[in-house]
Amino acid sequence: MEKIIDENKQGETLVLEEKEGNKRKLFIESYGCAMNFSDSEIVASILATAGFNTTQNLEDADLVLVNTCSIRDKAEQTVRKRLEKYNAVKRDSNPKMKVGVLGCMAERLKTKFLEEEKIVDLVVGPDAYKDLPNLLAEVDEGRDAINVILSKDETYGDISPVRLNSNGVTAFVSITRGCDNMCTFCVVPFTRGRERSRDPQSIIEEMNDLWNRGFKEITLLGQNVDSYLWYGGGLKKDFDKAIEFQKVTAVSFSNLLELCAKTQPKMRIRFSTSNPQDLTLDVVETMAKYHNICNHIHLPVQSGSNRILMEMNRLHTREEYMALIDNIRKIIPDCAISQDMIVGFPTETEADFQDTVSLMNYVKYNFGYMFTYSERPGTMAERKMKDDVPEEVKKRRLQDIVDLQREHSEIRTKEYLNTVVEVLIEKESKKSDTQWSGRTPQNIVAVFPKEHYKVGDFVNVKVMDCTSATLIGEAIGLAP
Ligand code: SAH
Ligand code: F3S
Repeated sequence: MEKIIDENKQGETLVLEEKEGNKRKLFIESYGCAMNFSDSEIVASILATAGFNTTQNLEDADLVLVNTCSIRDKAEQTVRKRLEKYNAVKRDSNPKMKVGVLGCMAERLKTKFLEEEKIVDLVVGPDAYKDLPNLLAEVDEGRDAINVILSKDETYGDISPVRLNSNGVTAFVSITRGCDNMCTFCVVPFTRGRERSRDPQSIIEEMNDLWNRGFKEITLLGQNVDSYLWYGGGLKKDFDKAIEFQKVTAVSFSNLLELCAKTQPKMRIRFSTSNPQDLTLDVVETMAKYHNICNHIHLPVQSGSNRILMEMNRLHTREEYMALIDNIRKIIPDCAISQDMIVGFPTETEADFQDTVSLMNYVKYNFGYMFTYSERPGTMAERKMKDDVPEEVKKRRLQDIVDLQREHSEIRTKEYLNTVVEVLIEKESKKSDTQWSGRTPQNIVAVFPKEHYKVGDFVNVKVMDCTSATLIGEAIGLAP
């Protein structure tokens, strides 16, 4: 889910309002996917009740937490560099500071972290955040503390996350945790555990609370949202063992979407990420039925080659994926579709790569996130296959598809020229303080002169010009 995070958000320090009476200072920094940023809000909320206010200064932090990502080797290297930086600050100016590692690297490396990185006092996996106050008590007594137990039912549904560095307009709401898909390249099933869904009631309550506080858009988050299934709690894989009553009253992802759309008919609803093998057409039909569900599907495919898809354990073919795209477009003609792609998976030949190129040419995605394969310890691909595509070949293939995607994005963006789009204003444009920036339902960024409009307004914007990724226009009035 890395892609829905703005690249310049990586490593952002999160701050929130001070709670009176809290004496200790927490510096919390997040890397990786949207779920990590969302989890950091849960952590800050747990620690706010344990005496911590947040700070942006490493120099006066009592506790430094880094929420980490293991998805590619590069992500882990970035975190290691940050740990070196914390170490320098601790040595030079803040000896009282304690350091904790959260998230996927904590889960993957477990006690190794405490042994290898002498500076780390605390290691906490993604399902153990409620244990933080206890673990900190251990650290206060001078012991290292660790909890990397993965849970069958933890969804943090009962924690109301504080919103860190929020624009006050858009928010993430997590709906599932973990992943059961076992794509052979992916470390997530190992670091985030088995898939479980959150109680729809608590999702609706969080959404209502956000609406009452002025938020206008939520993104329902999960590694594989289409697989959402609530039957009273428990793992997705145990659903067959559920009793009849649980089975007939179970809530699927399309049920949940509908429930959200109906409960707050003016709130924009997005979701991420969809997996082609689990995205069913009833979801697309529900999207078509409700104006407030945004017409955008992030639908990673990873490769266009059937042989590579099979090696990746992606449980669909290229043809099935293309048929799914056709069906989505039949039901929602203006649905934006975006991708994630991996090049240089073990054994990928030039012909396999050309299949990826031709699939991209078929779909012409609105946008996408492309990566070179990074071997992850413990995954099936690492255990069974040799990372045999040379680095320079991987790089060249990546550049080829990045260029191709740019062409496609430009074609897609140009389709909006001279049309009117609905934009939810999120913030001032980075390039000009006289312009607003927001997104269309299709998740395309649009900028336009501020006039009398304000953050949080839904505005109809006439598109006059564009770059490959941004629409440039003029407001013609508030959207009804
Ligand atoms: N289902 C998740 C996917 C998480 S990983 C979601 O919610 O988006 C995000 C993307 O990182 C994947 O879609 C894949 O394209 C890429 N990725 C995962 N493992 C990788 C690896 N070992 N090397 C390179 N890219 C990888
Ligand atoms: Fe990873 Fe595949 Fe799940 S990419 S997060 S194992 S859907």
